[in-house]
Amino acid sequence: MSLYQTTASAPVNIACIKYWGKRDTTLILPTNSSLSVTLSQDNLRSTTTSRSDSSFTKTRLWLNGVEEEIKPNGRLDRCLAELRKMRKENVEDKNPNAPKLNTWNLHIASYNNFPTAAGLASSASGFAALTASVAALYGLNSFPSSPSTSYSPPATASQLSLIARQGSGSACRSLFGGFVAWEMGNNPDGKDSLAVQVAPESHWPSLHALICVVNSGKKGTSSTAGMQNTVLTSSLLQHRIKDVVPSRMSAITQAILSKDFDSFAKITMQDSNQFHAVALDTFPPIFYMNDVSRAIIAIITELNRVSVEETGHLVAAYTFDAGPNAVIYTEAEHIKTIIQLLLNYFPIDFAAAPFHDSFALFEGGHPKAAPIPKGFNENVSRVWEKDSVKGLIHTKIGDGPRVLGEEESLLNKEGMPK
Ligand code: DP6
Repeated sequence: MSLYQTTASAPVNIACIKYWGKRDTTLILPTNSSLSVTLSQDNLRSTTTSRSDSSFTKTRLWLNGVEEEIKPNGRLDRCLAELRKMRKENVEDKNPNAPKLNTWNLHIASYNNFPTAAGLASSASGFAALTASVAALYGLNSFPSSPSTSYSPPATASQLSLIARQGSGSACRSLFGGFVAWEMGNNPDGKDSLAVQVAPESHWPSLHALICVVNSGKKGTSSTAGMQNTVLTSSLLQHRIKDVVPSRMSAITQAILSKDFDSFAKITMQDSNQFHAVALDTFPPIFYMNDVSRAIIAIITELNRVSVEETGHLVAAYTFDAGPNAVIYTEAEHIKTIIQLLLNYFPIDFAAAPFHDSFALFEGGHPKAAPIPKGFNENVSRVWEKDSVKGLIHTKIGDGPRVLGEEESLLNKEGMPK
């Protein structure tokens, strides 16, 4: 008997133009378009194994080994229904010999290689991996089995983004590598609210990202709840939707296409600032950044000030999602300096939170602070207690979902999590 099983992985994405607000909360249709950078799966990824078997008595899901309830008509249930429908219409109705996988139950196991405690959003990579894995199982799409620079995603990656979007809005952007726009669309049925690739990861390989994992201590307001309250109460959001995002979307697309770091960085920082401003304009207000986040902004701003004075160019861009962690985009050549600068203000216990030196910047040792550069106003921040920033992740831009080999399966012979 054939085994109907596939394993796929999908990347994390971090938006430069933020998605914040839904015009339809069931279909997950946004109030504005957004644009993100896909981070490398070599560092951060979700992996999902899906198996379809006529003997399974119900569809089950395990997240990091723990079984999760699948709520009828909930986000996951709706994604699976869409995938089944596509399997039926695109494969089974056209080929009477194809097994009726659309009618069989699934066992799905998903695993994030980054700890949830790191405070990094996993819903985008998670729903993208789930969509890619079931789509591959159902023969709907051909994601590459290894990263390849010559790979151009098939048209159906955008179609699949329509499905991932219904799991978590930002997940639709994780169906592509490189630079990805989520076009908000106009149709009430959401058929035109999809992700498209603006440029592949090979377009700007020197663009790197540094994630500063900030200790938050408490769990903040979820994106889903927070953004709906913003839609209901913030007048600033209306200004953002109408007057700000449309021109920023075209300006940042141009900046990416021409690899204009100055414009890319400025727009990214301004959009992060405005997203946090609309969070503050929500009633009651939402605070996602904390004092450590603001100190990181002050340090990057001072670094940019010095650099503009010396070279006329910005060197780094910060951006923050619905939490205190910073993501810093910069060109590869500046990463080491930025890490060494940050360590003056944020002592990190690298024995507890190892730094994966994927780009061999520190010759096998832990990163260490270097003297503060000349001309840099060291008083822009105080020195923080140890582990205010509890870890650093250095990564680059990466590819979209990959289909993995049998050996990566998360399910055992019986179809239970390993
Ligand atoms: C701040 O995609 O997590 O990261 O659609 O309700 O699941 P839901 O929300 P989600 O929101 C992400 C918000 C953000 C900005 C962004 O990624 O664009």
